[in-house]
Amino acid sequence: MERKFEPKNREQYLSDFGDRSRPEQFDVKEPVTTTHTESNSTQNQTTNTTMSYLNLDKQKTATTVTELNVLLADYHLYYQKLRNFHWNVVGHNFFDLHEKFEQMYDEAKIKVDEIAERILTLRYQPTSNLSEYLELSSIEESKSEHTDVEMVKQLLSDHGKLITQMRKVVEVADAAGDEGTIDLIGAYIRELEKESWMLDAWVMNTSDTHKSI
Ligand SMILES: [Fe+2]
Repeated sequence: MERKFEPKNREQYLSDFGDRSRPEQFDVKEPVTTTHTESNSTQNQTTNTTMSYLNLDKQKTATTVTELNVLLADYHLYYQKLRNFHWNVVGHNFFDLHEKFEQMYDEAKIKVDEIAERILTLRYQPTSNLSEYLELSSIEESKSEHTDVEMVKQLLSDHGKLITQMRKVVEVADAAGDEGTIDLIGAYIRELEKESWMLDAWVMNTSDTHKSI
């Protein structure tokens, strides 16, 4: 039976679940310079005791993590939909699409792990439960009974949501000066845009043509 979705209250969810920081690990302390005088030496030793390797603004990084957690949720829903379609696709295109969807969910699985580990690198806890992913993601589950073309069109629609969320991550990461996140997610955007072009070409008729300038 197809799951009925309640309207998602993203703002409420983020206020409930969005802040999973580990402040004791994250806090950026100002560099402290201490001077030790050896009892048997006149030489002074200066020690820099900066406690964090990130040097990022905590508040701005929290905003980046909130958007990364949404992207993580989106990718879980997308991943499971690919498995659904991999299993349930039928028809003359079975062999092509069965294999294509497997390749796509293998790539999605890697990104799920990379996004979660980016969040951990930023010293926050990634959202980790399926119930939370269902609440947080803008991508919805699908029934299994679709034609091959309907499946690909639904994935293209999901790509649009993923790319929109990725651009949001890049925007807030840019405001935080977080080039590591921009580099990771920027590459995802480029890859997913190319994948979308190929799926879109698959949906087109052989008599269709691309737009010319
Ligand atoms: Fe399989």
